[in-house]
Amino acid sequence: MKLKQTLLTLSVMAATVAPAFAGEVEVLHWWTSGGEAKSVAALKGMLEEQGHSWKDFAVAGGGGESAMTVLKTRAVSGNPPSAAQIKGHDIQEWGGLGFLTTLDDVAAEEKWDDNVPSMVTDIMKFNGEYVAVPVNVHRVNWLWANPAVFEKSGAQVPTTLDEFFVAAEKIKAAGFIPLAHGGQAWQDATVFEAIALDVLGSEDYVKAFVDLDMDVLGGEKMVEVFAKFQKVHDYIDSNSPGRDWNVATSMVINGEAAMQIMGDWAKGEFTAAGKMPGKDYVCVPAPGTAGQFTHNVDSFAFFELDDKESQMAQKALAATILDKDFQEVFNLNKGSIPVRLDMDMSKFDQCALDSMATFKESATTGDLVPSMAHGMSTTSYAQGAIYDVVTNFFNDSSADPKEAASKLAKAVKAAM
Ligand code: BGC
Repeated sequence: MKLKQTLLTLSVMAATVAPAFAGEVEVLHWWTSGGEAKSVAALKGMLEEQGHSWKDFAVAGGGGESAMTVLKTRAVSGNPPSAAQIKGHDIQEWGGLGFLTTLDDVAAEEKWDDNVPSMVTDIMKFNGEYVAVPVNVHRVNWLWANPAVFEKSGAQVPTTLDEFFVAAEKIKAAGFIPLAHGGQAWQDATVFEAIALDVLGSEDYVKAFVDLDMDVLGGEKMVEVFAKFQKVHDYIDSNSPGRDWNVATSMVINGEAAMQIMGDWAKGEFTAAGKMPGKDYVCVPAPGTAGQFTHNVDSFAFFELDDKESQMAQKALAATILDKDFQEVFNLNKGSIPVRLDMDMSKFDQCALDSMATFKESATTGDLVPSMAHGMSTTSYAQGAIYDVVTNFFNDSSADPKEAASKLAKAVKAAM
């Protein structure tokens, strides 16, 4: 008995023994909801298995605005974390300021260029060198629906905006909240861009939010986007201001509300609550956007650090993020799809399989577009200008769609 125990202790010690360069990684992120926390715990666990230690630097706040503010303060005072959840255009902005370190050696060893699509790796590179590692691909243009609420209301899950308004009326009349929403700028922008994708179409969406084309930003079709966005406001509840996105998701989970327009991190909440897709909830493309894919690639950028142990731990973290086992467990919890193209998808549900199929297909049709609301399409300055116009408009019931479109163009121009 004693021997058995000693052997067990020894094998546990062997498994957790520290590598030659055990270090600490301090990781800044904003993954604090139920599904998000489970996902990030998988990364912590896998890093600790390798003998490194994880210092959690979580800054709550969906969409990451608060996290970015805290990160700036830390970096400017000369004390950046090892890695931070930074994505899209922000990677270039941080790279340009000289804060980031190269990961090219890890990338070459782990063959990132061969296993991750170039449309993603391009975002991760600054001046041709890897400074960030992608974690996943989120699809943003989803509608999450509670089928029981639809049934009780005698409504159909909508596939177009017109159908959405018809269903929303019935749901409202039946005493449910049609659309669960959190009144925060990034959530307003998430719903706005889904409507823009439908009304403008992929080509003009790109002209507006990537090229910052004034004619489209201030044009007739944008007026229509604002008009429909305003109509959506009729179907949210009066307690929505300030509400967190995951609280809105829980309203769909518990049957208080029928729908939420949100990226597939919402699926992480359904999963964490033990709900089954196709039974307890359904995932369909946001109204009018079937075949289109608004992408949001989460990634960690790595900061330049001095000591060797920290650098080794950073490299271990970078390699782990693109490890196949991690990609599987993380994305199953997070609601996203793996960013590697060579993954076995057999454990993934129908929402993830649909997402993967649309991701691949939309890349060939011009319907794979970057999310404005999640920092993938343009600079943080232009994004901030769009957020302001969109949020102010949404919160003012007497606002004029025509004026809003012209304000949008002017605000973006001033931020360019
Ligand atoms: C991030 C997701 C996150 C969501 C809510 C998005 O911007 O990309 O990873 O779950 O915000 O916090």
